[in-house]
Formats: sequence, C-alpha cells, structure tokens
Amino acid sequence: MGSTEPKLVVTEPELIKQILSNKEGIFPKIKLKGLVKKIFGDGIVVAEGEKWLKLRKLANHSFHGDCLKDMVPAMIASVETMLDKWRYHEGKEIEVCDGFKLLTSEVISRTAFGSSYLEGQEIFALLTKLSSLISRNALKIRFFGIRKFIRTKDEIEAEKVEKLLNESIMEIVEKRQDEVITGQASSFGSDFLGLLLKVHHDMDRGNQKSASDLIDECKTLYSPLTTITRRIERKVKLGKYEFPANVDLIILPLALHMNPDIWGKDAHLFKPERFSEGLAKATNGNAVSFLGFGFGPRICVGLNFASNEAKITLSMILQRHKFTLSPNYVHSPFVVLMTQPQHGVQILLQPL
Ligand code: HEM
Repeated sequence: MGSTEPKLVVTEPELIKQILSNKEGIFPKIKLKGLVKKIFGDGIVVAEGEKWLKLRKLANHSFHGDCLKDMVPAMIASVETMLDKWRYHEGKEIEVCDGFKLLTSEVISRTAFGSSYLEGQEIFALLTKLSSLISRNALKIRFFGIRKFIRTKDEIEAEKVEKLLNESIMEIVEKRQDEVITGQASSFGSDFLGLLLKVHHDMDRGNQKSASDLIDECKTLYSPLTTITRRIERKVKLGKYEFPANVDLIILPLALHMNPDIWGKDAHLFKPERFSEGLAKATNGNAVSFLGFGFGPRICVGLNFASNEAKITLSMILQRHKFTLSPNYVHSPFVVLMTQPQHGVQILLQPL
C-alpha cells in the first residue's frame, strides 16, 4: 500500500455496499505497483472490463457445481495425509498452522492444477518468499521513476523469485499440454488449468491468451488476499461528500466485523452460534457487514471451494480427535499479506 495516492478508509456499511456492488466501473480495483504486482500478476484479481468478465466466467465454472463435487475426493485424501502425521502426536502438543498451510497448498495443486504435492509445495514456498519481501517493503515510499535506475536488494531478490515462480508454473502447464500433444490424454481436463488451456488453444487467434496471461491466472489461484481496496476512477458522490478522481479506497473487513452497532455488544467475542439462523439474521439484514469473502460482483470466486475444504477438514479432525489450545500458544495475529498467527498454533491432541 506504499503508493502516494490519497487514501480514504471507508467503514460505513452503506458506502461499502455502494462501492463494492458498483457495476459501472466507477470504483475499479487499484492499480498494483512495485513488488505486489509480482504476486498478483495481471490476472482475474486485478483485471477489469471484458478481460475480467471472461476470466470470471471460466473461474466460476471451475469452482461451482459438479466441478466442485469432483474435487471432494482429492480434498479428503489430502486431509487424510495430514491426519496420518497427527497420529504420532496424540496426548502431546502439535503445531498445526504449518500443516494447514501445506494442506491448502496440496488441495489447490491437486484440484485446480492436477499437479503433485511437491510441485505445489515449491510454488507455495516461492509465494511465501515473495509475500515476505512485499510485506517488508509495503510501507517504503520510493521516488517516482527511481525504480528504473536503482533497484534495492529486495527488488532484485523478488525478481529472481518471480522468475523461478513463473518457471515452476510453466512446467506444470507444459506437462499438461504435452499429454494432449503426445496423445496420452484426450483433453486438457475440466479443472481450472484445463479450462485456461482450452481458451489458450482456441483456434480463433483473436481469442488466444498469451503464456504470461496463463501464468498470471495460475498465480491468482495461489494468492492470498487481505484488505479490500478500490479506486475512485472519476469524480463521484459517496455519502454526503463528493470525491475527486484518483483516491484509493481502503475497506477493512475487521472494522465492520467488530462493529457493535451491527453485530451487538458481543461483536468481539467468538460466538459461532450468531450464524445459526443465517447471515441475514446475524447481520440484522445487512449482508455487506460480513466481508470475509468480499461482496458484490467481485466476491471471492473460491468461496464455495474454500468453505467446502474447511468443513471437510474440520469434520475429519473431529471424527478422530479432541483438542484444546496449548498453554504455549501466544495470541499474536500478524500480517504477511494475510493475517496469520505469528508464533504458530499449538494445540494438545487427545484421541476420541
Ligand atoms: C478462506 C479462504 C479465502 C478467503 C478469506 C478469501 C477472500 C477473498 C476476498 C475478501 C475477495 C474479494 C477481494 C476484493 O473484492 O477485492 C476474494 C477474491 C478472490 N478470491 Fe478469494 N478467498 C479465499 C479463498 C480463495 C480460494 C481457495 C480461491 C481460488 C480457488 C480464491 C480466489 C479468489 C479470486 C480469483 C478472487 C478475485 C475475484 C474477482 O475479482 O472476480 N479465493 N477472496
């Protein structure tokens, strides 16, 4: 977020709704600059207009309905691998955060890219490296144009990591293409990578996607998201005030989630039962107040995928174990692009 544009933090639900549900392009995504651009590339997360619409249709298709159902066995197999390792820790403490990161990397590698765990792990390791370089430099302001002439150690390092990342993704892509070319497979497949390749190989040259577009899209699915940001494209009235063009809008989901006027006096407490009668009841008919997955046309495309994965994982854990938080756990939420526990999550595992 270290750009020099003026910034406006928006916390009013009605204004957030106006911004996130706008379909006329008055509040587009912000233009990423510097190191952050390396992680998100130029894919669906940042695209606008026709390009976004096309990519969104593809992604919607890959992460809904039957495609999502077909992914369940791969999710179960990945959780089983993780829980096999947990068996050796029964009656003892275990740190689970790193295991969950590995699990999500394995699930997305298998389901969206049909690739192996090791390939996915390599991509995640590179993305983690890029994330920490970005976080370390997020608040540093560099004078306009200076990047062209003088590059910092971190910028040089980030370029190397990006190159390795692109090569690793391209290896997976080429393997899939070769399978079709050599006749080992009859189609590119119906997962996300398969659909992207189908578009890439579209006979109509005008529609062909470039290899770098492909890589950008693949990177998108491995990317973690945090703050929701938009930009004011042209002079606009937002609430009582009129704003000029080129203002960055910052929406912090936590500011809404902790608001006692919306959620009640117990907003800050862990009370899953507040959702027992649905989101509308929990938010007093104000669905925009729950921003975990965003809102409006750009709502998270992986919402059902991620929710299924979480439900499968939790139910499989609970079928085998009871657990309590270890006294060694230190509560310290920490942002490295996304919020994570700074010192891990230690739990005490007991068999059922
Ligand atoms: C618990 C896990 C996840 C959370 C909390 C989450 C959160 C979000 C949020 C808040 C947005 C909206 C960003 C904005 O409006 O600027 C978003 C967008 C997006 N998410 Fe997720 N996400 C999760 C998992 C996933 C997964 C597993 C995938 C891929 C399979 C994914 C792919 C995307 C994409 C492609 C977008 C951009 C959609 C667009 O601009 O049309 N997300 N996510």
